[in-house]
Amino acid sequence: MPARSHGTHEFVVVANRLPVDVTIDDEGEMSWTRSPGGLVTALAPLMRDGDGAWVGWSGAPDAELTPFDADGMRLWPVPLSAMEVQRYYEGFSNSTLWPLYHDVIVEPDYHRIWWNAYLEVNRRFAEAAASAATQNATVWVHDYQLQLVPAMLRRLRPDVRIGFFNHIPFPPVEIFGQLPWRKQMVEGLLGADLVGFQRTGDAANFLRAVRRFTTYTTRGQVITIGPHWTRPERHVRAATFPISIDSAELDALARTEAVQQRAADIRRELGDPDVLLLGVDRLDYTKGIRHRIKAFGELLREEKVSAPATVLVQVASPSRERVEQYVTLRQEVEVTVGHINGEFGSLGRSAISYLHHFYPHEEMAALYRAADVMLVTSLRDGMNLVAKEYVAARHDLGGVLVLSEFAGAADELSQALLINPHDIEGLKSAIITAIEMDPREARRRMRGLRKRVMENDVAHWANSFLSVLEAMPQRTSHV
Ligand code: G6P
Repeated sequence: MPARSHGTHEFVVVANRLPVDVTIDDEGEMSWTRSPGGLVTALAPLMRDGDGAWVGWSGAPDAELTPFDADGMRLWPVPLSAMEVQRYYEGFSNSTLWPLYHDVIVEPDYHRIWWNAYLEVNRRFAEAAASAATQNATVWVHDYQLQLVPAMLRRLRPDVRIGFFNHIPFPPVEIFGQLPWRKQMVEGLLGADLVGFQRTGDAANFLRAVRRFTTYTTRGQVITIGPHWTRPERHVRAATFPISIDSAELDALARTEAVQQRAADIRRELGDPDVLLLGVDRLDYTKGIRHRIKAFGELLREEKVSAPATVLVQVASPSRERVEQYVTLRQEVEVTVGHINGEFGSLGRSAISYLHHFYPHEEMAALYRAADVMLVTSLRDGMNLVAKEYVAARHDLGGVLVLSEFAGAADELSQALLINPHDIEGLKSAIITAIEMDPREARRRMRGLRKRVMENDVAHWANSFLSVLEAMPQRTSHV
């Protein structure tokens, strides 16, 4: 293999998106604003300490950007053509892998042309990471869009330590086995030294997939690869690291006078309801938004609750709007909301306030503070950070969390009211239980939930992952 020239960064994050929103004006001038998100908050200090770089896509098709500095981090844009956005991002990532990994809630599409684009784009990310990383650097690759990067990067740079974290579920082998490229996908991930998952069930599913689709042996969490020809035996660990949020930041924000005032204003604007139910999601079919709205509609129809004394605020932020299943979902949700409001709303008062927008952090914190019951009804969800955000915003110990057992957060947040969102009767009775819960019982539950969320924040998550990765035996360099 020809010697490669190495970069200068000791710590390199590789994710589909850069942690900034990039805008390019008509003259081709680029500007950026920091995009909020737990991942960047957790990793930013490590990036500054460790001379870090972040490799990712700017979000704009056909943008050829050179590396630039933002917030003390070196950002390393990977360009995607409009065709690649269609085939790699909307196609293979979000119409093949996303539905496949979320229990085939909608049918995945398998197209060889999309797979080829996925291969090509993963190669480009691996090359960018190889150019950014210094000798013996640590490279942390994120999520389902980039599962081939670990093995591609290892081939280019056998000296670097490679971690991979899967933010979404890893499906049971019977479902994963549908993927025509299942073996390549497993081999891609096994390029890492450490493969991290949200839930123990995800790590177990991955280990089963390794046993089923490769000849490698596994012992507990450890997979043994090789030896092959000139390469010595190598070990890969598959383990669980449940992700979290910047709990202290949200807790502090929710305590501010401005947020508390806004929470009171929101309730007033809604006509001072007795009960405010809240849903906050990306508009995605994995989130169970239709199930939630159906349950609320039935409760109104059966007069178990009445509007406008009880209202549902549903924030559904726009997502993947060019993918067919998302277009269909939006239509279905909006038609159902329209029906319910037509039937149960009154002049100037809706039963459901449906908001298809992005909101700033402050507004979200105020909504969490204002809501009596938070509804998280995912049909399948890697973690669901909204559940943790709600808890972090409730230093007053008010509010009740209704949480799907199919969200990763359910493993940790067992003091929520856990529900099966497919069981509409069960969901309805959990909503009533939440509304009628004795305030002392609600506070006791919220205290337990807060202990978990405040102690296990996203910095704790990142540090746990990286310390296990750093403790993996160091290999000798082949370059
Ligand atoms: C999920 C995925 C992320 C993704 C995010 C937003 O949380 O795990 O990798 O970035 O959704 O989706 P988008 O397609 O807009 O990046």
